[in-house]
Amino acid sequence: MKKIKGNILVVDDEKSMREILEIFLKNEGYGVSIAENGEKAIEAIKKDIFDLIITDMKMPKVGGLELLKNVKQIAPDTVVVIITAFGTTDSAVEAMKLGAYDYIQKPFELDNIRLVVKNALEKQKLQKDVSLLKQQLKPPSMENIIGKSPSMQTLFSVISKTAESNASVLIIGESGTGKELVAKAIHSLSPRKDNHIVAINCAAIPEGLLESELFGYMKGAFTGAASSKQGLFELANEGTLFLDEIGEMPMSLQAKLLRVIEGDAFRRVGGISDLNVDVRIISATNKNLQEMIEQKLFREDLYFRLNVLSVKIPPLRERRDDIPLLVDNFLKKFAGDKKLFSKEAIELLKNYQWKGNVRELENIIERTVLLCDSEVINVEHLPDEIRSGSKAEKVVVPTGGMDIDKLMEDTEKAYILKALERTNGVKTEAAKLLNLTFRSFRHKLKKYGIDKKIITD
Ligand SMILES: Nc1ncnc2c1ncn2[C@@H]1O[C@H](COP(=O)(O)OP(=O)(O)OP(=O)(O)O)[C@@H](O)[C@H]1O
Ligand SMILES: [Mg+2]
Repeated sequence: MKKIKGNILVVDDEKSMREILEIFLKNEGYGVSIAENGEKAIEAIKKDIFDLIITDMKMPKVGGLELLKNVKQIAPDTVVVIITAFGTTDSAVEAMKLGAYDYIQKPFELDNIRLVVKNALEKQKLQKDVSLLKQQLKPPSMENIIGKSPSMQTLFSVISKTAESNASVLIIGESGTGKELVAKAIHSLSPRKDNHIVAINCAAIPEGLLESELFGYMKGAFTGAASSKQGLFELANEGTLFLDEIGEMPMSLQAKLLRVIEGDAFRRVGGISDLNVDVRIISATNKNLQEMIEQKLFREDLYFRLNVLSVKIPPLRERRDDIPLLVDNFLKKFAGDKKLFSKEAIELLKNYQWKGNVRELENIIERTVLLCDSEVINVEHLPDEIRSGSKAEKVVVPTGGMDIDKLMEDTEKAYILKALERTNGVKTEAAKLLNLTFRSFRHKLKKYGIDKKIITD
């Protein structure tokens, strides 16, 4: 078993020097490997990934500078510190130009080594952070998840409980319901919050690359592997790995993933050393994995490992009361305090189907705000699909055909009766409710024979 934190390679042709550094650094709690010359060091960096290399400058055949050039090619993420003889500042400057992080002059104080190593590893961690930042936004916590409906409150308490545990989590929800948001919230509320949450979308990465992304690879392991790279499992060490769209993971990789989750060591693609990491897995899917298991597209044993805790996010149409709240939030986001929605517009938004859930709502608010010049966003400013969509959803033309005129008349009659009921039979008010002139209202009453039944005018 191998600990990945603070992995240092010490390179020196002088045995006593190697020993001093090895003992000292091990005492400081680092993982230390040693190489007795430049060639051995190059061999070592082809087989393993180091965070830091401390190398002597002057060595027979492959010297410090030559080694440095090789490191830049084979393992560019590794930081190099060079040890130079007293009075050889020129070559130290040369080393810095070639990308060494720092140099130490002989004879050195161990305190000095301690400091340089600490700084160098911090720089290396920062580099890692930067590359991780590229793929993730700031981790949101619960406050970013909007919703007050009972089903959302249940979700909040499930998230809190889930965050306390270390068990694998499977998040299930339709597209756009906030699976990624929930995964990040669980991580940022968990004891692992100070370490990374690393995300990978299994659907977005070609099958052939997924393995090397997850487990890392060594230079030359395959065409295109120009340098060695740590995989996401390593980067997520002591943190959380978020496997998005897990239903898209190919069967061949599912077996490998299962072994890692079961605690087995893994290797980088083309690597020879066994690695063990401490990673919590959160996965998400909008697929029905149980159906996929029946169709032999997903491994049942992996499903049980991933789904120790399950978090279900309800679709937006099952919590319509949250819609005004979400609209408010997105309106602030896209228009500040400058615009508002009319009641009627909100009502329409509440009645829409929202197949794309919160993401679709967010997109529509953004689009509407952009296209609407007036301060109040009204029904006519909403996209066509919202204005007609909710009605169109319910429309069915029976296979045996239908009488549309009769349907219209029946509907009209029903609404008129309802309006009269509401106004206690006061016709003028009922007409207003239906946005009809009194003349036309009276005409319709006559047409449907309602007139005779009404006493009041
Ligand atoms: N409850 C919520 N409150 C506020 N914003 C939300 C909420 N749910 C989702 N969102 C927003 O909607 C968008 C989609 O969310 P997210 O990416 O987490 O969904 P997803 O379920 O992962 O979608 P997909 O299945 O398409 O990957 C994001 O911009 C997110 O911030
Ligand atoms: Mg997602």
